[in-house]
Amino acid sequence: MKKAWWKESVVYQIYPRSFKDSNGDGIGDLRGIIEKLDYLKFLGVDVLWLCPIYKSPNCDNGYDISDYKDIMDEFGTMEDFDELLFEAHKRGLKILMDLVVNHTSDEHIWFINSRKSKDNEYRDYYIWRKGKDGKEPNNWGSSFSGSAWEYDEATDMYYLHCFAKKQPDLNWENEKVRKEVQDIVKWWLDKGIDGFRMDVINMISKDQRFPDGIVPEGGLYGDMSPYVMNGPRVHEYLKELNEKVLSKYDIMTVGETPCVTPEIAIDYVGEDRNELNMVFSFEHMDIDKDVINLTKKPLDLVELKKIMSKWQKGMSDRGWNSLYWNNHDQPRVVSRFGNDTEYWDKSAKMLATCLHMQQGTPYIYQGEEIGMTNVRFQDIEDYRDIAVINGYNEEVIIKGRSHEQYMQYIYDFSRDNARTPMQWDDSDNGGFTTGKPWIKVNPNYTKINVAKQIGDKDSILNYYRRLIKLRKENEIIIYGDFELILPDDKNIFSYTRKLNDEMLLVICNFTSNNAEFSLPDNINYVNKNLLISNYDVANDDNIENFELRAYESRVYLLKV
Ligand code: NOJ
Repeated sequence: MKKAWWKESVVYQIYPRSFKDSNGDGIGDLRGIIEKLDYLKFLGVDVLWLCPIYKSPNCDNGYDISDYKDIMDEFGTMEDFDELLFEAHKRGLKILMDLVVNHTSDEHIWFINSRKSKDNEYRDYYIWRKGKDGKEPNNWGSSFSGSAWEYDEATDMYYLHCFAKKQPDLNWENEKVRKEVQDIVKWWLDKGIDGFRMDVINMISKDQRFPDGIVPEGGLYGDMSPYVMNGPRVHEYLKELNEKVLSKYDIMTVGETPCVTPEIAIDYVGEDRNELNMVFSFEHMDIDKDVINLTKKPLDLVELKKIMSKWQKGMSDRGWNSLYWNNHDQPRVVSRFGNDTEYWDKSAKMLATCLHMQQGTPYIYQGEEIGMTNVRFQDIEDYRDIAVINGYNEEVIIKGRSHEQYMQYIYDFSRDNARTPMQWDDSDNGGFTTGKPWIKVNPNYTKINVAKQIGDKDSILNYYRRLIKLRKENEIIIYGDFELILPDDKNIFSYTRKLNDEMLLVICNFTSNNAEFSLPDNINYVNKNLLISNYDVANDDNIENFELRAYESRVYLLKV
């Protein structure tokens, strides 16, 4: 397998709005990130992915960009960014920017011009269509509720927005748009950044027939996914971007790609494809979500193992995996697949182990390293996410679902679970801000915070540090071949990794009960060494047959 620095790195994702506020306005900012670089160095990560920091009216917290070459007012200035980049590089930390080019803000100058008239030179930067029978051009629903088309009176036409109506989709069919994107990417790379996370990058090519989508049971709109995901020209566009710009720099790229299987993903990340280094897939994130009934399904561990091992196998030797449990769009994993009450500490460590020992580049989302949990705000008014607010309107007000059911759905899945401020210490607002935070702090900040864990060698934080350190010390964790064992066990997630004469044995109990582990007969070894565990375990413990305690995890390095 080809080696690369981005395969050997651990990425830390920062949601700047909620990370650290340096000026007391209640909103995190770039100088706040600078203040915390030493903490990130202490954690041991290599790359920082910054969620969008560009100029934006913030209808979707920066995923609606109005100027790609400027910084959002609340976050600071370009001088602050340059300083951040300099200070990060000084510490050996790389910076990944979030590239959001499926759509812009409706306040971007391109769109302001585009909507003016049909013959404006920017008209074709966006996707305009005539209405049909006095209605939208087709029945597609947007990802943030409502129709995916917005009527614009000035020219009596509709524009497409796969997300909010303030996020019009760019028309990648137009070569000028592609050139603009290349220019933006080059501009940032020339500044010295180290790569990009590319927002919904597999949505940039749309099926130009724009057919109606299938309306799901109980739904109001048609499903656009088959016509906007992995579209007809997406690979052509990415190859062009790669050839013209990306390939000229030593950088890393990761594409956010909903609706991909390993077979589809390999076309984006295959080593011979010259497109991207890796993608974020969603199959393991969709496992417990019932989007029709808006409920949470119990975790089916056998299914989760099947999905994850399919990806491990599907990428090995041909591409590369990204490994994540959390990001700014997902609920907190310790509340989701773990147990955030009685076994908070054990389950957070177990989940980290299960992920970090797999093959791929691990991503840690801010606060995950201290076991931050989901939040339950009583009042819908305390939620900030546009998806929650629009969803409430559609599900409760229009469709008449009960308020209680929707609130439960939010508690389980809202993106705001991940967006409450980072919990630095037990002072007011968790040390995030001296002002009024833009979104409320999770009230458990007095118990869960960085200050409390930093000096405690048994804390979740220090456990993450050890996992990261182990990766640096053991090549097998990076490049070893993955093999799932005990695929049908409903309680234990166990797998091996193999490199030369070494084997890594990873054993994780996903339940709050004891679980019986038996080593498969075909695993033979000469000696064993316990690398890490979330319980006290003696190295000479029998591993052939033993009982794992609640959420126990162990990693052994075997000589075979
Ligand atoms: C995916 C991003 O992760 C999410 O936060 C955003 O709302 C959508 N793309 C639209 O940009």
